[in-house]
Amino acid sequence: MSSEKIYIFDTSLRDGEQVPGCKLRKEQKLAIAEQLDYFGVDIIEAGFPISSPGDFEAVREVAAIVKNATVCGLSRAVMKDIEVAGQAVKGAKRPRIHTGIGTSDNHILFKLNTTRKDILERAVAAVRYAKTFVEDVEFYAEDAGRTDPEYLARVCEAVIEAGATVLNIPDTTGYCLPHEYGDKIAYLKANVKGIHKAILSTHCHNDLGMATANSIAGVENGARQVECTINGIGERAGNTSLEEVVMIIKQRFGGTYHTDIKTPMLKSMSLLVSETMGMPVQANKAIVGANAFAHSSGIHQDGVIKQRDTYEIMNPADVGVDQSSIILTARSGRAALAYRFKELGHNLTKDALDVAYIHFLELADRQKEVVDDDLEVLYQERIYSLT
Ligand code: KIV
Ligand code: ZN
Repeated sequence: MSSEKIYIFDTSLRDGEQVPGCKLRKEQKLAIAEQLDYFGVDIIEAGFPISSPGDFEAVREVAAIVKNATVCGLSRAVMKDIEVAGQAVKGAKRPRIHTGIGTSDNHILFKLNTTRKDILERAVAAVRYAKTFVEDVEFYAEDAGRTDPEYLARVCEAVIEAGATVLNIPDTTGYCLPHEYGDKIAYLKANVKGIHKAILSTHCHNDLGMATANSIAGVENGARQVECTINGIGERAGNTSLEEVVMIIKQRFGGTYHTDIKTPMLKSMSLLVSETMGMPVQANKAIVGANAFAHSSGIHQDGVIKQRDTYEIMNPADVGVDQSSIILTARSGRAALAYRFKELGHNLTKDALDVAYIHFLELADRQKEVVDDDLEVLYQERIYSLT
């Protein structure tokens, strides 16, 4: 059986950009959108057009320049929002409106102050209206993670009937455990009439650090679109991180699922988004963090020098990192020191290495890291005369 495609819906320019400090100017949005398109993202959520004239214009221009991806604009289930989103995306080769409303009792009773029946009717009306602008309409059931599954199924059924092509099941508050989120997707697959006419989408937030695990559980239970952001940026603790989902699919589900993302661009996309938004990436961030392929303890360094996959489950080149690095600190061993001297063109004898190691440890205890320049000085001053 051939592998099934998982659609990657990037919302860095919408859910990511709405975070304080991440706001982008139109030119910056355009530059990122162009790269996302080339990178192989299937859907670019370019913004929330009703939110400001600037965002409307940015979405309109993104729609005009993107060559391959679907360009999507967000709206609430409010007629004016939908109309404005429709105008913003209409120049796209593949336009989509993403509309929706809260479906959990919490949202219905406290935020929207209404009834389940009213929400269902508003959802249907929103999708019907969006269909008058574009063929491709995605519906989001906000706070689906905490929505009663039986009611959620009825809402999904009704919006499919109204023409929704994609059903987004957000875990808006990052509340679900992976098995709960997976069960919810499986339940919808089994209990929504007409479900074969729509794609189920995951949209998971990271409040408890489970966004990626939940998205993957969604895929394993029938979702075929994953909503995510570069570096996992987004509201509060962020969204599902694109690089994590893409590499999990590649490393662990190859043959069953695939994405069209050019994985060797992962690192450069991470840098582009982090530098443009001024949002640093933590050093230990999976896949794209500065330390993701850096080995610093003696035991690990020895293992990785002998055989890379002893401590690395991915090839760094697959994510756009030149090579794994051996960081020299006071916790490093002789093998790492010899390896780094060799990289600098100095093949040390056992005796020379023993001497070098003593001087290296003195230095490493004084400073956090020993870099190539330090090794060159050490070689010229202490080792050269021994060789
Ligand atoms: O988290 C969420 O529920 C959202 C929706 C607007 C899709 O971002
Ligand atoms: Zn969200």
